[in-house]
Amino acid sequence: MRLFLYLACFGKVVINMKKITKAVIPAAGLGTRVLPASKAVPKEMLNIVDKPAIQYLVEEAAASGITDILIITNRGKGIIEDHFDYAFELETGLKGKAGKEKYYEAVRSVADLANIYYIRQKETKGLGHAILAAEAFMAGEPFAVLYGDDIIISEDPVTAQLCRAFEKFGKMAVGVNECSREAIKKYCSLDVTPLEGRVMNCHKIIEKPTESEIMSLYAILGRNVLTSEIFDLIRATPVSEKGGEVYLTDALSNLAEHDKLTAVDFTGNRYDMGDKLGIMQANCEVALNHPEIGTDFKDYIIKLAESVK
Ligand code: UTP
Repeated sequence: MRLFLYLACFGKVVINMKKITKAVIPAAGLGTRVLPASKAVPKEMLNIVDKPAIQYLVEEAAASGITDILIITNRGKGIIEDHFDYAFELETGLKGKAGKEKYYEAVRSVADLANIYYIRQKETKGLGHAILAAEAFMAGEPFAVLYGDDIIISEDPVTAQLCRAFEKFGKMAVGVNECSREAIKKYCSLDVTPLEGRVMNCHKIIEKPTESEIMSLYAILGRNVLTSEIFDLIRATPVSEKGGEVYLTDALSNLAEHDKLTAVDFTGNRYDMGDKLGIMQANCEVALNHPEIGTDFKDYIIKLAESVK
């Protein structure tokens, strides 16, 4: 479907923009911060109550209108493919059996969420390098990026929030939230000015800023909407001296400096599944709202909190 954007002041079509239907999930990182849990199980497959983290991402993408998803994997991440495939023996054992039908539905529906494709990043050279592996798949179309370890629970899917900004303003978009000063130093800091509602123009990005370099407390967290212009920018990005990786942020910074980037202050609660505390927080929030165990878990948490006061 094609969307036509009108500029009120000119009253005519200025952009003929294709709706975003493709996404990439980079999931080829080493997961160092959650070792040894991520030694044999990719961190993207660590569970949040009863689903692996990456399923939340695929569900978010599907709820945002994405139909085709490329997952970037590497050696040892084959179980991601198994999870989104049909599971003949398991399904046969559940289908039509009294009391088991809901499990059958839960297992089967995972495989039908979207068309999922895989490509391997042969060397772990950073997020920018991983995104580059998606170039042929995107075939010149705009696309969403959902970082494989950033889970964002939101009634309004965050990918959809970014797609709307892209379709409205015609610029690439990054998902941002305000962070503490300490957290900003581990992420990046953005120079932004208001545009409309929760959307801002982004003019500059500084990766891992020092105290004096902090421009705002907004940092990029886990979601982007990009066009194929990003691939040349990534190719032109030198390997970082600090981490030995190709940072996506460096390419995004170039866009910001040329007035080609918006920042969307998304609504939703974000959890870092590459971090031990993030994993526990995600599990607690999802468990508290879970239809099967929510009430019992809440009672447990209240008792636990009283005992540790
Ligand atoms: P991170 O930097 O958080 O992941 O990348 P990491 O490299 O696994 O982190 P450590 O080892 O704990 O420090 C964000 C996302 O990008 C993916 C990761 O899988 C994660 O989902 N990624 C990162 C890649 O796909 N390839 C890479 O080379 C690096």
